[in-house]
Amino acid sequence: MSDLLVDLSANPWFKKTVKQLGLPLPTPQKLARSSGARVERPLHDRAVVIRPTDGPMEAPLAFCLAEAGANPHLVSKKTPSSVWGDAGDAFGRPATVHQTGEPPESIRASALICDATTMAGPADLRALYDFFNPWLPRLQRCSRALVIARPPREAATPAAAAASAALGGFVRSLGKELGRKGATAHVIYVSKGAESRAAGVLRYLLSERSAFVSGQPWHVDAQVRAPDATQWVRPLEGKVALVTGAARGIGAATAHTLASEGARVICLDRPGDEDHTGRVAEAVDGVPLMVDITDDDAPARIGAFCTEHFGGVDIVVHNAGITRDKTLARMKSEWWDQAVDVNLGAVLRINDTIMDGVVRDGGRIICLSSVAGIAGNVGQTNYAASKAGLVGYVNGIAGSLADRGIAINAVAPGFIETRLTAAIPAVTREAGRRLSALGQGGLPIDIAELITFLATPASAGLTGQVFRACGGMFIGA
Ligand code: NAI
Repeated sequence: MSDLLVDLSANPWFKKTVKQLGLPLPTPQKLARSSGARVERPLHDRAVVIRPTDGPMEAPLAFCLAEAGANPHLVSKKTPSSVWGDAGDAFGRPATVHQTGEPPESIRASALICDATTMAGPADLRALYDFFNPWLPRLQRCSRALVIARPPREAATPAAAAASAALGGFVRSLGKELGRKGATAHVIYVSKGAESRAAGVLRYLLSERSAFVSGQPWHVDAQVRAPDATQWVRPLEGKVALVTGAARGIGAATAHTLASEGARVICLDRPGDEDHTGRVAEAVDGVPLMVDITDDDAPARIGAFCTEHFGGVDIVVHNAGITRDKTLARMKSEWWDQAVDVNLGAVLRINDTIMDGVVRDGGRIICLSSVAGIAGNVGQTNYAASKAGLVGYVNGIAGSLADRGIAINAVAPGFIETRLTAAIPAVTREAGRRLSALGQGGLPIDIAELITFLATPASAGLTGQVFRACGGMFIGA
């Protein structure tokens, strides 16, 4: 379903008229999205402005940006560390140094990155203001603001924990401030010993693949056993992926993005949906599998299919889901049971059966949660309970899979333009779209891109977490 306001707002005449007439109409920024598969240098020739410190993230950041093709601009009174020179020499991307003060008119930044890994207490938070305040006007549309820090739980003192946690509130608010420009903000918390793993997260967040994700903390750690080198192009070559609910919507988009990165995709959907499922499977050069995931024999049939045809599976995307909305007082017990069983019960039963012997070491499991499970929603007690349950599940099981190199995470979409949201009454649907900081709903491709990133080896630092892809939808004091 297309969003008329986003389409109209792409027309400068429409935007100007709305402004001149003072009409109470939002004019959301059309988001820049990536098309096609991953490339070696996704940030080619883009200006990225960094506030460096002499901290542990300096070398990984310098090499990540130079390798991805960015032009680094360092804002520093001191002479920056030699790692910037080394990274620039290695990839032909010399850094430019700016003294703090007025940023040069000529620079249009595609990202601002504040390295806050050495913050020791609340007084250090002033560095956020000093860096972002003068540079925010230089930030392009659909750009990124990132803060990198140590996680609060690893802070040496309560004061350092306070400063670290403060960054979460900072980026959630900054994301809302930047939303009208189509820009987003995040904090990346990097645990000790996991510094080199931040590169995958940085590449994803700095690219247009993260267009609809904002105000999100990313905890990068070294729990999951990981390969030494990361392949940036066609990272899923040779991998087999199972996507449930692949006939349409987010599942179909995910089958496409996984396949474009090299994966062979098993497209699972309900019996009776052969046409849609077959078309998606054919388009991605994958195979259809018709199973109702709530059937008693579904886990065994899925496991047997993956083993017989592919010898196992590397990526499992638990995407199939349903809503059965009604206020709790008026809900029939069947509706409660159906939503909880499809969205949560079936996921656990399938994993219990395939985790040993079918899912290969180094695998990735992604479960589709929902912002409704985090924020709650009237008429969705059953749905929200099932989706919040998935968040608890990935958190609870992640530790036991880490030694095998398997990462498991949940993705929580906000308002995404699919059949599920097309069924919402028009006025509520319109409100759902405009509530996000970006002033619009997301597209299935936005969720597919996040899922695909979590399916790659480059996401090895992330496990047991939930990632919202909601355009910064949260409101509150
Ligand atoms: P959709 O309704 O377009 O597609 C869901 C697919 O799952 C359908 O093809 C359906 O046939 C399949 N499915 C349902 N029950 C099944 C079963 N028992 N066995 C096998 N397949 C089954 O939904 P959409 O919007 O693409 O959502 C995908 C996932 O994302 C769901 O888990 C949903 O809860 C979640 N989500 C979607 C949001 C949105 O705004 N569209 C927001 C938050 C979460």
